[in-house]
Amino acid sequence: MKIKKILSIVLLTSSYAAFAQSFTVNSPNKKISLSLKLNEAGALNYSVNFKAKPVVETSKLGFKINEQADLMNNFSVLKVDSSTFNETWTPVWGETKTIVNNYKEIAITLKEKGEKPRIVQIVFRVFNDGVGFRYVFPEQPNLFHFVVADEETTINLTGDHKIWWMPGDFDTNEYTYNTSQISEIEKLAKKRDGAIFTATPIKGAFVQTPLMVKTKDNLYISIHEAALINYPAMDLKFDLSTFEATTKIANDAVGNKAYMRAPCHTPWRTIIISDDARDIIASKTILNLNEPSKLTNTSYIKPMKYVGIWLEMHLGLSTWDYAGTQAASDAGSDGKQKVKTKHGATTENTKRYIDFAAKNGFGGVLVEGWNDGWEDWFGKWKEDVFDFVTPYPDYDFKGLNAYAQSKGVGMITHHETSGSATNYERYMDTAYRLMASVGSHALKSGYVGKIIPRGEFHDGQWMVNHYLRAIKKAADYNIMVVAHEPVRPTGLHRTYPNFMAAEAARGQEFNFWSEGNPPEHETILPFTRLMGGPMDYTPGIFKIKKSSYYPGAKEQVHTTLTKQLALYLTLYSPVQMVTDLPENYEAKPDAFQFIKDVAVDWDDTKVIHAEPGEYLTIARKAKGTNNWFLGSITDENARELNMDFSFLDKGKKYTATIYRDAPDASWDKNPEAYVIEKITVTNKSKLLLKLAPGGGTAISIIAQ
Ligand code: NOJ
Ligand code: CA
Repeated sequence: MKIKKILSIVLLTSSYAAFAQSFTVNSPNKKISLSLKLNEAGALNYSVNFKAKPVVETSKLGFKINEQADLMNNFSVLKVDSSTFNETWTPVWGETKTIVNNYKEIAITLKEKGEKPRIVQIVFRVFNDGVGFRYVFPEQPNLFHFVVADEETTINLTGDHKIWWMPGDFDTNEYTYNTSQISEIEKLAKKRDGAIFTATPIKGAFVQTPLMVKTKDNLYISIHEAALINYPAMDLKFDLSTFEATTKIANDAVGNKAYMRAPCHTPWRTIIISDDARDIIASKTILNLNEPSKLTNTSYIKPMKYVGIWLEMHLGLSTWDYAGTQAASDAGSDGKQKVKTKHGATTENTKRYIDFAAKNGFGGVLVEGWNDGWEDWFGKWKEDVFDFVTPYPDYDFKGLNAYAQSKGVGMITHHETSGSATNYERYMDTAYRLMASVGSHALKSGYVGKIIPRGEFHDGQWMVNHYLRAIKKAADYNIMVVAHEPVRPTGLHRTYPNFMAAEAARGQEFNFWSEGNPPEHETILPFTRLMGGPMDYTPGIFKIKKSSYYPGAKEQVHTTLTKQLALYLTLYSPVQMVTDLPENYEAKPDAFQFIKDVAVDWDDTKVIHAEPGEYLTIARKAKGTNNWFLGSITDENARELNMDFSFLDKGKKYTATIYRDAPDASWDKNPEAYVIEKITVTNKSKLLLKLAPGGGTAISIIAQ
């Protein structure tokens, strides 16, 4: 680790504040430049340039505080610290073997003028691909316990840019994306998606982060936050005429926002900038703004592919509840899902999945509906639904864990909380102890429904703390976590690498019981939701149309089959579900081979083609090997993309197995038609990728 102090100036007299003061910091590569200015009112403003062009114009910093004066202006500069940092670190798992963390930092300590001055420090880090900044409240006599009424940070964009966005909502991120100009937000935001069970859309021009922005001059800007701890999640409210966004943090049940106690700090606000969309996807700035791993034991943390008793319930072929009577979902167009079916999570059925996982080399088996409580879990805002330890009579919890381990497979235990976080906190220790006692090292949690404590939001400070408590507690019991319906990720998996993946966006599940996810959806996710961390999207569907199960059903997955294969590369996660039913894979062993072969942990990643909402090609080098896997996807448009293999080792030969759309394939008319061919490639090879409408290509590139 190298920290070089360049400058530390202590400004002793307040007379400095009588003059405007300015500071500039350039990124190590000089492309990004941050300017800070203390104006005549004693407010610190910032702006950001990329290659000397303004990207963020004069923007505000500060807070409204309950029962106190605003903490926004009337400041003088007390101290300025500058430093440079350059380090290379090795993640426990990830997209690359090592990560460079290189930035210039400036920390401006501001002191209020007047009788009982309060002090706030604003720390900026300027990376080669963006800027992060946060507020630090040092220990001080005049600011101790305080409640944030509003954060007043603004990000003042330079025009009516194009954005990829979902409406502001403190409870859910399970929306499809809108693509529009900033000025159109309010007009388009009114759409309420009936398939989302718990949504609390905020009225007005609100959008969620990670927000993807593109300017008329083809600059790409991603706005999000990093290291969200003990603070609410942030949405953005746009002024539709000036295009200035103001941070809006979620409130709690009594209308307060964040309870703070100095010394403390906020999360980082992040602005990632490039004139090449590929750099946005490859950015490590959000991870770098998080603290290094706090876990001493990481031996149980294993990236994996997993199967599960999951899709059959979402299709209505079996149920979560024991009696097998509960509707799998209310949203199916065919109406056939409400008939009595059968309980999915039986000992016998689970063994079938364990055998399937063992036979095909998958590390985990997820079982949902194994525990008591599913009779009355949905939509009741009930506190005591599940105890997370009582299996149904037809499910041998202990025996199945032993059976799985005897076959080299691990069980992924499912804890649906139904949003009752208080109840979950009561049982957490007991439930994790039970998991540890049977050797289940992976957990999938879920928070469907309105939160208890009643009045709290999924994105509020209380829940942000709850999700992290669960991750830390799970680490105490050597358990990996995949969280559904959590607050959206902000890179915390660097600090807690047992936090493998999260949902926090609209996953594949919507395709089975709603109008689903449009073909462009998976080309937007990597530029938005995935900027914060891996997603448990659940790719790999082979039976694309629900009418295969229910004649006349309209629901379908809005991709071709080979696009489903490509998603294993383009939607990064160290845990990837092998989502379809075993029999659907067994019916297509040639295409299934790709899912068996594809890795989940990587030494290197190359983003080859990228444009939000249109297309994406990513190649990744499997950990500890010379083998590469490539995925390329398109939106609803057919597309041809020129590929060269220059990322391969010079002089080596590789066998490339290409899984591509058949010439007449398309997501809507002919989604399951594919072609597989094998060729030899070297680092000089070129290939024209031909993607069908809603299609994709997957390639395994194995060193000969
Ligand atoms: C919603 C989750 O996203 C899904 O994966 C799960 O099957 C259901 N909740 C039931 O817990
Ligand atoms: Ca969900």
